[in-house]
Amino acid sequence: MEVVILENSEECSAYAARIAASWLKKKPNTVLGLPTGRTPLNFYRQLIRMYQEEGLSFKQAVTFNLDEYVGIGKDHPASYANFMQQNLFRFIDANPENIHIPDGLCHDVELECQSYEEMIKSAGGIDLQFLGIGGNGHIAFNEPGSSFASRTRVKTLTEKTIQDNSPEFGGTENVPMHVMTMGIGSIMEAKQIVLLAFGESKAEVIRQMVEGPLTASVPASILQMHPKATIVIDRQAASKLERSDYYQWVFNNRPDWQRL
Ligand code: PGA
Repeated sequence: MEVVILENSEECSAYAARIAASWLKKKPNTVLGLPTGRTPLNFYRQLIRMYQEEGLSFKQAVTFNLDEYVGIGKDHPASYANFMQQNLFRFIDANPENIHIPDGLCHDVELECQSYEEMIKSAGGIDLQFLGIGGNGHIAFNEPGSSFASRTRVKTLTEKTIQDNSPEFGGTENVPMHVMTMGIGSIMEAKQIVLLAFGESKAEVIRQMVEGPLTASVPASILQMHPKATIVIDRQAASKLERSDYYQWVFNNRPDWQRL
């Protein structure tokens, strides 16, 4: 696990965008795993800027989003399909046929989850997976206690997540209780994982994820087992890490070929 501590969310987002760009330059049909939430907003702005100013192309890229609420469609303002359209896809040259997000209005959620897994497989698996982290340690909507071996499936949100996500729905009573989410096992098969987290409110869960024990109670702690996971965090989110000086030392002394 590599921990990259940068000054603020802008620097972290720019760094994450450079990782995406370096993949896309080497492999134009990179399969990207994409998150939603407040965390990736600046990251998406950076990707848009690189598309507009630096000629970065997404034409051949294939994308899979992590999750979607059950029962709401892509035209619902709080759906993740709409989030992605508003915050990324409408600004770049991604081919709509290569964009994948579970359909919240599908008739058979179990079938939808199963075919999502099959689509990821037939795309050759996810190359580069971006993640946020919930205050309770969830990745995607794999809430605490989720199996480390889980695949795409239906989950019931915790009350905390419902509360966290309620602003987009105008109140907790409007937040769907069920979601379809890629599983932890699905996420762990990505060739590279980049997790972003910012702010004081994430400091404790970042400490648990990076330096705490491996436990399904902190689903993100499984990233300790991933061969190529990069945790990109600002100073506030890093503030409870015991070994932050060492992570900084490693980053400052990385070999030239690792620099972006
Ligand atoms: P946030 O959510 O980016 O809005 O903090 C992250 C998550 O719940 O995964």
